[in-house]
Amino acid sequence: MNNCRHLIRLYSRPLLLPSIWKRAKGYKVVKRPDPKTLKMPSLADAPSLMDIIKEKIRLNGPLTVAEYMHIVITNPTEGYYMKKDVISEAGDFITSPEISQMFGEILALWFYSETSKMGTGKPLQIVELGPGNGTLMIDFLRVLNRLNYKPNDLSLHLVEISSTMQLVQANRLCAKHNECDIESPYNREGQTVSGIKIYWYNDLKKVPLNFSWYIAHEFFDVLPIHKFEHTENGWRELLIDMDENQKLYYRISGEETPSAKLLIRPPLQADRTELEISPRALGIARQLAERVDVHGGLVLIADYGHEGEKGDTFRVGVS
Ligand SMILES: C[S@@+](CC[C@H](N)C(=O)[O-])C[C@H]1O[C@@H](n2cnc3c(N)ncnc32)[C@H](O)[C@@H]1O
Repeated sequence: MNNCRHLIRLYSRPLLLPSIWKRAKGYKVVKRPDPKTLKMPSLADAPSLMDIIKEKIRLNGPLTVAEYMHIVITNPTEGYYMKKDVISEAGDFITSPEISQMFGEILALWFYSETSKMGTGKPLQIVELGPGNGTLMIDFLRVLNRLNYKPNDLSLHLVEISSTMQLVQANRLCAKHNECDIESPYNREGQTVSGIKIYWYNDLKKVPLNFSWYIAHEFFDVLPIHKFEHTENGWRELLIDMDENQKLYYRISGEETPSAKLLIRPPLQADRTELEISPRALGIARQLAERVDVHGGLVLIADYGHEGEKGDTFRVGVS
């Protein structure tokens, strides 16, 4: 009864009605622009990597080093591996497969000799993480051809985040290749001159679970890391912030960040004052171990590293 009285009082207020009436009258039909006449932004108008990073800091506060690395490496228009092929003498750096074909050939022989202890090794699925220019795979296939593997005995599965690099690899490895639709687990497929099938994925999770040779050469060292320093208050995360002159600088977090809570696990060497931890690398290493454990195969990881004696290995290459 009380509520009823309240409603009557509300609707009998004289001022409400004119304002509702005015609002209804206030709407007017807006003519939308014809999409054909719209000028679409071109890639040249895309914001620079530095602008993207600064905008993120402005909006959300300091970035973790892992967030910073993720943007720098994988931003779809400006990311390091997204714009051009950087692995060559004319590019930024060179890797072992580019120096001598023997590198890939010896690795293929190692896989073959280990696999023959387990069985026929056919059909064989070869999975490469971060294949660069595709040179290592070219050398692998040369050896497998000599060892009498036929096109139906094997398939290649390349895990590559950059569509630019996928195209570089496809042009070097395939007689024909094409992009696949969004529903497919792989985003590109192709065939070598001899008819070996090749598939490209942006994530290891999408690669079929079969007996496989897994190779990751200079792949783990590009994955984002979190950086921590030991302070008098305990382990604190290094963050990337921006000063009043818009210059980026390192600062140390005042509080324990969620990554510090989650990732730092004792026991640690007593004299350690710096730590670099990559949850992405740990996740991929775990996936590889589970795949081999359940479905069989071999994993070869070749990369830069240390025995736990180094603190700071991160180099910033953006100016
Ligand atoms: C340092 S290059 C190594 C290339 C090659 N393995 C070699 O030895 O010449 C790293 C490669 O990993 C790719 N990459 C970087 N981050 C990746 C990610 N999160 N997932 C898959 N590929 C990635 C890059 O595009 C590039 O092809």
